[in-house]
Amino acid sequence: MISLEIKKQVVLIYLWLWWITTANICVEAKRDSLKPGDTLNSNSTLCSKQGKFCLRFDITSNSEFHSLFIGVNADSGPIVWMYDINHSIDLNSAVLSLDYSGVLKIESQNRKPIIIYSSPQPINNTMATILDTGNFVLRQFHPNGSMSVLWQSFDYPDDTLVPTMKLGVNRKTGHNWSLVSGEFNLDWEPKQGELIIKKSGKVYWKSGKLKSNGLFENIPVNVQHMYQYIIVSNKDEDSFTFKTKDKDYKTLPWWTLLPSGRLMGNEGDIVNADMCYGYNSDGGCQKWEDIPTCRAPGEGFQKKAGRPNIDNSTTYEFDVTYSYSDCKMKCWKNCSCNGFQLYYSNMTGCVFLSWNSTQYVDVLPDTFYTLVKTTKSAPNSHGT
Ligand SMILES: *[C@@H]1O[C@H](CO)[C@@H](O)[C@H](O)[C@H]1NC(C)=O
Ligand SMILES: *[C@@H]1O[C@H](CO)[C@@H](O)[C@H](O)[C@H]1NC(C)=O
Ligand SMILES: *[C@@H]1O[C@H](CO)[C@@H](O)[C@H](O)[C@H]1NC(C)=O
Ligand SMILES: *[C@@H]1O[C@H](CO)[C@@H](O)[C@H](O)[C@H]1NC(C)=O
Ligand SMILES: *[C@@H]1O[C@H](CO)[C@@H](O)[C@H](O)[C@H]1NC(C)=O
Ligand SMILES: *[C@@H]1O[C@H](CO)[C@@H](O)[C@H](O)[C@H]1NC(C)=O
Ligand SMILES: *[C@@H]1O[C@H](CO)[C@@H](O)[C@H](O)[C@H]1NC(C)=O
Ligand SMILES: *[C@@H]1O[C@H](CO)[C@@H](O)[C@H](O)[C@H]1NC(C)=O
Repeated sequence: MISLEIKKQVVLIYLWLWWITTANICVEAKRDSLKPGDTLNSNSTLCSKQGKFCLRFDITSNSEFHSLFIGVNADSGPIVWMYDINHSIDLNSAVLSLDYSGVLKIESQNRKPIIIYSSPQPINNTMATILDTGNFVLRQFHPNGSMSVLWQSFDYPDDTLVPTMKLGVNRKTGHNWSLVSGEFNLDWEPKQGELIIKKSGKVYWKSGKLKSNGLFENIPVNVQHMYQYIIVSNKDEDSFTFKTKDKDYKTLPWWTLLPSGRLMGNEGDIVNADMCYGYNSDGGCQKWEDIPTCRAPGEGFQKKAGRPNIDNSTTYEFDVTYSYSDCKMKCWKNCSCNGFQLYYSNMTGCVFLSWNSTQYVDVLPDTFYTLVKTTKSAPNSHGT
């Protein structure tokens, strides 16, 4: 998942620059809504009133898949949300439509229609709108002037949290809001009042409680001082979201969860759960097992450029369900393993290296991870 990780970083830096340079520019009004009968194809975009967010069809870094995205700014802006990546669509023929009976769907040639929302009874007083918060909402307008939300993209978070988008649970519907990236989730745990990062259900990290100064215990002060957390707990919902304290802050506030378990924010890593090895409990890491006998406290994997020698001590894991963090854990527990690489170009499968194979590194640009002994562990500062 490393190339994805790099792409996201580039994307987010770009997002930041864009926000800085264009936040003050008056953006020409564009179409922000689909009425019944309207369509959107891959040559056009739907942009929010102030032009902050646009909905468009685009391609992921994994070029096999096209999907429906919400990006910042028009044609090529960075992506903050995508519609279920598992549904591949044909970009040239893709059409998003809202019909006269309240069905919001994506159709493309030679593929089954993807139903985003289908009303239980036919209704035609609907409108699908991309808002300036980045939320894409399908609403029903009642004759008495009120309206109700039928479906919204903020109910289906991807890997990025932006202001007004929530984590937690909707008590009326039982629906959970959770950030997802690979096998990792970022959740709001309302009972304890903590943010937690889980990998395949196992808790890797907890934020600790929100202190009276408005900061979480296990998040470095310098990366969270700009955020104001908004926690709601009532009969309708238990939720967490944030905004910036400084009204003049020009950057879009965002948190992005990477497939390695690292949570990035505007001012740096909120937490790097990749540094939770199971035995350490520093910085909010949760302990779930003892340190392997052959490993020492403070040891961990570090990313290196170059290409290690492959020799007869090298072993492979061809299983495509193994991602970065699975390879890391398997290597960590095997005393003969001193480094690893991802095997497939889509960052799945593993190559396990022994000292003999990792000691020779040539100049070819490649990436691998090697065990390093650090004098002292620094869970939240490490990880590029
Ligand atoms: C999009 O634009 C291209 C080039 O102008 C055109 O060939 C294609 O048919 C258009 N696609 C749709 C879905 O309108
Ligand atoms: C996509 O498919 C995989 C494997 O079938 C599944 O684990 C995952 O939850 C799916 N993702 C979504 C967003 O539905
Ligand atoms: C919308 O629904 C109303 C009531 O069902 C119907 O009278 C009207 O003709 C419909 N309009 C369109 C454009 O389908
Ligand atoms: C308006 O009408 C809708 C649908 O009939 C209803 O659910 C809602 O409670 C009404 N709102 C008000 C303020 O009367
Ligand atoms: C929401 O999360 C809770 C707690 O993790 C879980 O028990 C429940 O099944 C989840 N609900 C849904 C609809 O996924
Ligand atoms: C540990 O690694 C060695 C060398 O890479 C390999 O031969 C062995 O099968 C591995 N053991 C386990 C339990 O995976
Ligand atoms: C990754 O690549 C392997 C080998 O090409 C393939 O079998 C696997 O399905 C791919 N996994 C994903 C998630 O695309
Ligand atoms: C590493 O290589 C040296 C010299 O080639 C050899 O003597 C040693 O047994 C090797 N160690 C392992 C663990 O394969």
